[in-house]
Parts: sequence; C-alpha cells; structure tokens
Amino acid sequence: MVHKIAVIPGDGIGPEVIDAAVQVLKAVSNNLNFTYFEVGYDRFKKKGEAINDEILEKLKKFDAILFGAVASPPGIVKNYRSAILTIRRDLDLYANIRPIKSYIKKNNLDLIIFRENTEGLYSQNEYMRDKEAVAEKIVTEEKTRRLAELAYKKATEMGRKRLTIVHKANVLRLTDGLFLRVCRSVSQQYPEIVTDEKYIDNTCYQLARNPSSFDVIITTNLYGDILGDLAAGIGDGLGFAPSSNLGTRWALFEPVHGSAPDIAGKNIANPFATIISAKFMLEYLRRKKEAEILEEAIKFVIERKIFTPDLGGDFKTVAITQQIIKEIEKIQSKGTGYEAQN
Ligand code: NAI
Ligand code: MG
Repeated sequence: MVHKIAVIPGDGIGPEVIDAAVQVLKAVSNNLNFTYFEVGYDRFKKKGEAINDEILEKLKKFDAILFGAVASPPGIVKNYRSAILTIRRDLDLYANIRPIKSYIKKNNLDLIIFRENTEGLYSQNEYMRDKEAVAEKIVTEEKTRRLAELAYKKATEMGRKRLTIVHKANVLRLTDGLFLRVCRSVSQQYPEIVTDEKYIDNTCYQLARNPSSFDVIITTNLYGDILGDLAAGIGDGLGFAPSSNLGTRWALFEPVHGSAPDIAGKNIANPFATIISAKFMLEYLRRKKEAEILEEAIKFVIERKIFTPDLGGDFKTVAITQQIIKEIEKIQSKGTGYEAQN
C-alpha cells in the first residue's frame, strides 16, 4: 500500500534534518510518496504569509505529515502567524507526545510527556488593553478530557506505571483547576496506573534532580513545551528529542527542536530526533516491519557513537544519514537471505 506523506522542511536546520529523514525513509520503504510544501518564516519573507488556508486544506489529504522546524520572529510582526501552531490547531492535532529516553547519558530518564496542543496559553488570543498586554489562557473540559483519555490509554498499552498531572492550580485556580479536575476524573477509570500531581515549578526541580522518578506526564500546552526542552536537556539533548502530534483524523511528526539558526547550513545538525520521529510515523501508518528495521539501524549507529558535535562527535548530518542507510541495507539483505534459507 502506498502512503502519501506531506513534507514540510521549514527553516534553518529544518531542511537538513528533513532531508536526512526522507532519505532514510526512502531506503527503508519503496512505497511512500512524498510531496513538499513551503511553509514557515522564509515563505513569510517572500510571500507575506507563513502558511495559508489552501495549504492547510491540502495537508488534510495526506496520510501523515513530516515536519522539520520553522522560525518565528519574536515580537510583533504584522500578519505573522506561526505555521506550526496554525497546523496543530487547524488539523486539531490535540496531543503532542514527546518520549524522552536517555540512550547516551546513563541517568535512566525514560519519560513520555503528553502535552495539550491546541489551547492553553498558546491559543494566540493576545491583545492590548490600553497599556496592558493580555494573553488569554483557554482550558476546556472537552479538550482536556480527550488528551487525558489518550494519555491513560497509551500509558496502559505501553505498560507504564505512573502518570503525573502537572499544573499550577494553586495560582491558576480556574484554568489549571479545570485541567486538574478533568485529568483526575479520567484517572478513576485507570486504577492500575498510579496517578500523582505536581506543580510545574516543582516538576522542573524534581526532573532535574531525579529524572528517573517520572514515567508519564500530562500537562497543558506551555508547560509541556518547556518541560519537553528541559527533559531533552537532562537527557541526550534536543537533537535526540522526537515527537508525534496526533489528532482524530490527522497526524504530524516532528523533532522537538526549532530551526537552530546558530548551526543552520553547516551540515552539523543532529538528525536523530527527526529520524526517530519518522520512525513514529511508520508505526502510526502500521508499517511495523519497516519501523523495526529503522529502529535497529538507529540503535546500531548510536551504539557506535556516530554523532554530530552536539554530542561530542565529529560526524556531519549527511554522514550519519549515510551510516543509517548503510545499516538499513545490511539488515534488509540479511533479512532476504534468512527468508531464502527458510
Ligand atoms: P532551537 O531548538 O532551535 O535551538 C536551541 C539550541 O539547541 C540551539 O543552541 C541549537 O543549536 C541546538 N539544537 C537544536 N536542534 C539541534 C539539532 N538537531 N542538532 C544540534 N543542535 C541542535 O531553539 P531556539 O534557538 O530557541 O529557536 C530558534 C527558532 O526556532 C525560533 O525562531 C523559534 O521560534 C523556532 N522554534 C520552532 C519550533 C518548531 O518549529 N516546532 C520549536 C522551537 C523553536
Ligand atoms: Mg518548544
């Protein structure tokens, strides 16, 4: 079966890591069909828009989206709307799932963050009230419930034992209060999972001191964004932090990191986060065998410490990609030999 993949390289290192992932996907599978879209800040500079409704409608016709990273200028830029936030909201990709496992640093970090992806403080409802800048934080029962149900369901399937609801309901009594109440009510249906609750500030502290004490976290949009980077920093770095954005009808796979302008164009961006996100995409598309082959190839390259400079290596992005492809080809030819013998 052919799957249609929408590819959005984006800005900065986005095209470099996406090129790595697409090459690897082409090596592991021969019936994926890739269509590229220009979206992001570079597009905005050329055309006055980072994304538009026509592209959003087109994206909905694909089986999955593979996304690099986009740059967003800070401050007020007229007519600018962040492409990734727009896609997440328009395609209702309500769950941002960030598994952060430490392969290299031996600190037993093995955490999955479920971040609400469509509302909270990222609702993009900001305005001026006289001289005050106001941002609306929106939390709805329905959107919290569907995230909590997905988090508990997936945690159960993955054999996870503990789920921590991360919030700040002692201060944000209505918004985070609602989030906490709904998560608690969903937790009642999952007595086999130990549910606990932590404030976001204490979570950061505990995560830094004792990373292995967390198993699954469910949290609101902004906290999840920050915790994802924090966990990546405690683990093997942003270059190793993949993610899935799931909704009811569509799905997007992307690294946690941004466009990294400080290293863009140097062929030193770590491609693992995007390649692991691509593996999640294969799993989502139920291409199990291909996902397994890719996972084995990734593990092989990690074990041999074939790394970019962010992890102390001196390999280039392209060289790592080639190593993974070589490994895929080896596994595939071994596989064929084995099947022939049987
Ligand atoms: P960033 O994630 O791009 O970079 C943070 C630091 O991590 C930098 O030092 C960078 O060199 C390093 N880094 C990130 N990815 C790496 C990789 N694959 N290999 C090696 N090193 C890597 O965050 P920053 O600098 O705060 O943001 C840059 C731009 O990206 C901003 O315009 C921001 O709005 C955007 N951004 C976009 C995201 C998205 O498209 N989903 C997510 C986060 C930021
Ligand atoms: Mg972020």
